Amino acid sequence: MASNKKPRMTDAAFHRCLSVVLVTLISVALMLFLLQNNRVSDLVTRCPSEIGLGCDSANNSPRFKRTLNVPIQNQLSILLEKQNQFPPRNLDLFPQLAEDHITIVLYVHNRPQYLRVVVESLSRVAGIGETLLIVSHDGYFDGMNKIVEGIRFCQVKQIFAPYSPHIFNNTFPGVSPTDCKDKDDPVKQHCEGNPDQYGNHRSPKILSLKHHWWWMMNTVWDGLKETREHSGHILFIEEDHFIFPNAYRNIQVLTALKPKKCPKCYAANLAPCDVKSRGEGWESLIAERMGNVGYAFNRTVWRKIHRKASEFCFFDDYNWDITMWAAVYPSFGGSVYSLRGPKTSAVHFGKCGLHQGQGGTVSCMDNGVVNIQVEEVDKAGNINSKWGVHVYENQAGYQAGFKGWGGWGDTRDRELCLEFANMYHFRHGASC
Ligand SMILES: *[C@@H]1O[C@H](CO)[C@@H](O)[C@H](O)[C@H]1NC(C)=O
Ligand SMILES: *[C@@H]1O[C@H](CO)[C@@H](O)[C@H](O)[C@H]1NC(C)=O
Repeated sequence: MASNKKPRMTDAAFHRCLSVVLVTLISVALMLFLLQNNRVSDLVTRCPSEIGLGCDSANNSPRFKRTLNVPIQNQLSILLEKQNQFPPRNLDLFPQLAEDHITIVLYVHNRPQYLRVVVESLSRVAGIGETLLIVSHDGYFDGMNKIVEGIRFCQVKQIFAPYSPHIFNNTFPGVSPTDCKDKDDPVKQHCEGNPDQYGNHRSPKILSLKHHWWWMMNTVWDGLKETREHSGHILFIEEDHFIFPNAYRNIQVLTALKPKKCPKCYAANLAPCDVKSRGEGWESLIAERMGNVGYAFNRTVWRKIHRKASEFCFFDDYNWDITMWAAVYPSFGGSVYSLRGPKTSAVHFGKCGLHQGQGGTVSCMDNGVVNIQVEEVDKAGNINSKWGVHVYENQAGYQAGFKGWGGWGDTRDRELCLEFANMYHFRHGASC
C-alpha cells in the first residue's frame, strides 16, 4: 500500500522546493533575456555614425560573425582569415615605420610572372623601407605566396580575401551546382541566380575582382589593427603596375601639396588617368579625373566612399573602377579630381598584343621580361612644389548615367558586397 501513498511534503521541504523553482525560473528568464540581447543589440550594435574614427572596429570573434549574413566558410577560408591576423614580416629588419609613412596596398590575383616584375620594381623604390606594404590576395596560390615571402625591403603583411570565389569550389561565392548559367531562365531551369541587365548570370571568375577590391578597402581602412588607425594616406597598386624608383617620394610630395594646390582634389595619383600616357612632361602639376593606377587617398575620402556602399554594391557592372566612376563619384556631387605630376611614376603593363598597332611605345611583357625604360629623371623625386596646377575640366570617360557593363546582377553578390561594408562596423554598447 505504501506505493500508493503519495509522500507528504514537510513545510521546510516545500520552501526549499519553491526557492529552487523560483531561482530556476529567474535564471531561465535571465538567460533568455541575455540570449535575446546577444542576438539583437546588447553585444553587437551596428554603428550608426559613419564618422568612423569614433567607432570601435569589431574584432574577429565568432560572436560578431554570427550576426553577419556571409556564406558558410570552408576550412581554407577560416584558415586564411586567421592568417590575416598575423603580424607583418621583416619586423627584425624594419622595426619602425616612419612617422609620416604612406602605407602601400598591392592587390593581386594569380599572375606570378607579373608580380615578380612589380616586386622587383618596388625593391628599387626610394624610401620603401620606411613604410608597410600590404599584399592583398584574391585566392590562395603558392606561386604568389613565394614571391611575397621573399620580400626583404620593407615590412610586409599578407592578407587573403576569405570570401574570394576562388577558394569556394562548389558553393557561393564560387560556382554551385544549382546556379544558373549564361542566359538560363531561373524558373524554367529551376536554377538559382538573378540575371544582370543584359540577361546573363554571374561569372565568379570575372566578378571576383570587384568583391576583392571592396573587401580589401573595408579591411584595410576599418579592419586591420595595423592600419585601422592610420591617419595618413594609403597608396593602392595592382599586380601589373610597374613602380618607378621615385614613386614613393613623389606621392609623399603630392599628398602634402594637395590641400594647398588643389583643395578640390580627393586623391593623388602616380600615373595619368589615361593608362597609355606617360605624362605631358610639362613643368606643372596636373589635376584630372581619378585614375586607377597608383591612387592614394586618406580616411576622410574613404569614409565618403564607404557611405556610398549601396551605390557601389548595386551598380550592375563587374568592374570596381567603372563602378566608382559611374555610380560612386557622381554621387559625391561635383567632379572628383586627383593630383599628379607631369611625368608618370607608375606604368600599367598588360599582356602583349592587347594594344595592337601602337608599336613599341606600349609597355607589355613577354617571358617575364618587361620593356619599361627607367630614365634618370624617374629615379629621384621630380615634382617641384613651386609649380602651378593645370586642371583638365570635363574629361571624357565614364560618367553618371552610364548603366554599366553588367555582370553584377545577382542578389547574392550585391548582399555579400554590402556585408563587407558592415563587417567592421559593430561595437559593444548601444551608443556609438
Ligand atoms: C573542392 O571541394 C571539395 C570538397 O570540399 C574538395 O574535396 C576538393 O578537393 C576541392 N577541389 C579543388 C580543386 O579544390
Ligand atoms: C583628406 O583629404 C581630403 C581631400 O583631399 C581633405 O579634404 C581632407 O581634409 C583630408 N583629411 C585629413 C584628415 O587630412
